[in-house]
Amino acid sequence: MSRIILTGIKPTGMPHLGNYIGAIQPALELTKDSSVTSYLFVADYHSLTTVHDAEALSRMIHQVSAAWLACGLDPKKTIMYRQSDIPELFELNWILSCMTPKGLMNRGHSYKALIQANREAGRRNTESGINMGIYNYPVLMSADILLFSTDEVPVSEDQEQHLEITRDIAVKFNHTFNTDILKPPKTLVKTKLLPGLDGEKMSKSKGNHIPLFCSSKELKKIIMKIKTDSSSPSEPKDPEKSILFSIYKAFGSTEQTKALADKYRRGIGWGEVKEFLYLLLEEHLSEKRKVYESLMNNPNTVNSILKEGAKKAREKAQTLMSQIRKTIGIDSL
Ligand code: TRP
Repeated sequence: MSRIILTGIKPTGMPHLGNYIGAIQPALELTKDSSVTSYLFVADYHSLTTVHDAEALSRMIHQVSAAWLACGLDPKKTIMYRQSDIPELFELNWILSCMTPKGLMNRGHSYKALIQANREAGRRNTESGINMGIYNYPVLMSADILLFSTDEVPVSEDQEQHLEITRDIAVKFNHTFNTDILKPPKTLVKTKLLPGLDGEKMSKSKGNHIPLFCSSKELKKIIMKIKTDSSSPSEPKDPEKSILFSIYKAFGSTEQTKALADKYRRGIGWGEVKEFLYLLLEEHLSEKRKVYESLMNNPNTVNSILKEGAKKAREKAQTLMSQIRKTIGIDSL
């Protein structure tokens, strides 16, 4: 039996290098294993919890799909679809909501963080700006995972609680209906992190990110902003203390990385290191960038891949959904 691996990406715009090293690359690596069945979906309805701009949402869905395809996602190996194209997910979302203790959602980290932020901002209403979609987010995420009998979910550390909730909900459902129809998934925590321009973890919300695809000129400009210290070119430098080196290491081969480390120890100017990093990133990204641009200019190519993926995913979803309906006493007539 093959292992089923599934992951969802919330469309929030152009992915950055941290997403590439931390999520895209490791997920694509997993799909190369022929004993793996992989699903990758664009969690567009999860974005609706915060994105209320139709033009922006539509663009971000397209961008994130094009970016994964440009990075090498093979639609023959991986079933790629939009969450919104699988209506059964929203049916399961309701069923699972009715199995989920409200208290479990009250303890959700992201919900609690928003309450805390309201408190810190001195707002009298600590629930201000929190819609039911945000509150129920973990239930929809559980449906995403459980509907495909997923074995393993690669996610970043901040999503670990959502996976715990998914397991709790699956166990609760199974116990309630004396079945084992829902499979509690395992978490595969992604460990690769990349520092941003300021040395903090690269993230879009901190504004310290390097976009995965931008023009070479833009890329060069952004690399120039990476923080360095004031040591002179001839001074020996510790590569492990350098943001530039950490980013270089994430992309470079062992030999390339070692060669640069030697240069650091002998003394090298920051301008020169920046040039090396720029060249290395260009080497890795320029072909992918071309594919990305062509996919951005040909929405039909991306759309037909998503449509085809949705068709395959829906077939699977419908099979389990009809069993679930039977289990709860709402069989088809
Ligand atoms: N919550 C995830 C994130 O913000 C996205 C997501 C939605 C997801 N559904 C999922 C990830 C199911 C894995 C499995 O990154």
